[in-house]
Amino acid sequence: MQRFRIEGGKSLCGVVDIQGAKNSILPIMAATLVADGECVIENCPDISDTHTALEILRTLGALVKHRGNTVTVDCRNVLDYEIPDALMRKMRSSVIFLGALLSRHGKAVISFPGGCELGPRPIDLHLSALEKMGVTIREEFGCLFCNGTVLEGCEIPLAFPSVGATENIMLAAVRAKGTTVITNAAKEPEIEDLQNFLNEMGANICGAGTGTVVIRGVNGLTGCTHRVIPDRIVTATYLCAVAATRGNALLRGTCPQHNRALVSVLRQCGCELEEQGDLLRIACDNLLAARRIRTMPYPGFPTDAQAPFMGLMCVAKGSTVFVETIFENRYKHIAELQRMGAHITPEGRVAVVEGVRRLHGAPVQATDLRGGAALMIAALAADGITEISDIYHIDRGYERPEQVLSQLGASILRVEH
Ligand code: UD1
Repeated sequence: MQRFRIEGGKSLCGVVDIQGAKNSILPIMAATLVADGECVIENCPDISDTHTALEILRTLGALVKHRGNTVTVDCRNVLDYEIPDALMRKMRSSVIFLGALLSRHGKAVISFPGGCELGPRPIDLHLSALEKMGVTIREEFGCLFCNGTVLEGCEIPLAFPSVGATENIMLAAVRAKGTTVITNAAKEPEIEDLQNFLNEMGANICGAGTGTVVIRGVNGLTGCTHRVIPDRIVTATYLCAVAATRGNALLRGTCPQHNRALVSVLRQCGCELEEQGDLLRIACDNLLAARRIRTMPYPGFPTDAQAPFMGLMCVAKGSTVFVETIFENRYKHIAELQRMGAHITPEGRVAVVEGVRRLHGAPVQATDLRGGAALMIAALAADGITEISDIYHIDRGYERPEQVLSQLGASILRVEH
């Protein structure tokens, strides 16, 4: 089992190159299944979730080549339509393969997806939308047997703007008969990235990034070359890490407009941020508390940035009230932050953080991907040494964080135990 050993207290200064977005690459990998040709995907993050998605594609029979941050996928010989339970459990986004398999084969067999434990994560919105398009779904022995030889376009109003459901419907609808209109669709930038990828393959989709996505079914899709957008949550994490250590850094290859909500909160907290093209500079001397953070669907404050930002607010002057509206149980990192001397009072979906002057190092455990990022941030700001265990959670979404942070002057080692 690997751990991160972090000696805190060093200001982070320098340049960071931001990796491609995890939440884009996963649906895009699934989307390669609907192409009759080779897809070349650039700026692909080298994280364990990417490897899981590639394993799913290989298991289904795809030809996959992976060199550096470029992945080539050719699904022309894919005949299989069943994803093994062990792979489904490795990550939540495995469920996105359902829409893509239905599009390709008119059938799919999957089990319920795994992923971070953030409370119940049902897939009812995905399944009812697919049923509306003509898919029959039978649940037996913990597996979902899905059949939809003729997928029909229709109107799908979502009860909640679910990111995964929006993506699954787009994939199922891309080669369906007629037009599908998703209303109350998720507006996340990764939805737009998926739309762009599918359109580059010859799909006819518009509206991604707004609440209404219109997908006109087409007959065939070809391969294409696509560059994945920068990861806005990784950007958020490194912004918080720099601010927590009162540092000064330049983030390169990012997309500042995807981080509007966080950037505006960081400015209120006294950080200086400058944007230019794909560059984002942050400098922080004196950190004030944000007072109130409410997670919301995009373009609101992202639930994925809640934990990293809480790590930061632990060392800000004043108190911050967090309200987590997206996931029921996304505060597992609090108990670990408390071990480092953080003053946090959780109550249901609310958590009140009173900033302290200094945190202290302690042995802590990453509880999930973003909770693990919160611990890294707190550890970088703390006095003394913190050892973070279960870092496989962090490796699901961050490409070699120890190298990135070391380049900024942090003292961090990946150690084997
Ligand atoms: C995606 C992101 C994840 C992010 C989340 C919210 C990927 C790979 N993951 O996850 O990082 O935290 O968006 O921004 O892109 N819900 C239902 N029924 C459903 C589907 C969702 O009740 O069928 C609920 C969920 O339990 C949750 C909320 O809707 O409370 C948001 O979920 P959703 O937007 O679907 O998140 P994911 O696509 O799983």
